[in-house]
Amino acid sequence: MSEGLTVSAGTKEERYQELMPQLEAVVSSETDVIANMANMASMLHETFGFWWTGFYRVVDGMLVLGPFQGPLACTRIRKGKGVCGTAWAQGETVVVPDVEQFPGHIACSSESRSEIVVPVFKDSVVVAVLDIDSRELSTFDEIDKKHLEKAVALLSF
Ligand code: SME
Repeated sequence: MSEGLTVSAGTKEERYQELMPQLEAVVSSETDVIANMANMASMLHETFGFWWTGFYRVVDGMLVLGPFQGPLACTRIRKGKGVCGTAWAQGETVVVPDVEQFPGHIACSSESRSEIVVPVFKDSVVVAVLDIDSRELSTFDEIDKKHLEKAVALLSF
């Protein structure tokens, strides 16, 4: 990856199609999961120009901030709280078209308008979540869900 990330302009689906092999190449060449989360956050953030892109890890029964790109964020989230804690508790991806309509949304940034949170599993247990925030409403859909779930499955916890 010395030449860096190369994803051309195109539809969202096309950009994910170009990005995924690059993510696989980067993650498969490194065994450290923190390093891989860091590069995955960067590559997603750079490709799509999200507002905030990063991971929270389950540490001692709480979500604790991990590698991310974007502004300062809340460091700890309890199970069932906010979008992140809900995705963790439910073990399912949560897509939020309008954060103001999500009861209990945790506003780390007042700029955030829509959000997707994707759980990361090890042996069927949630060990982390990928959280992405957008400054526009309704940024995330089934296309993001499909590709982001595949992306986080590349991580070996
Ligand atoms: N909005 C999230 C909190 C994390 S920040 O967006 C980075 C939530 O409601 O869980």
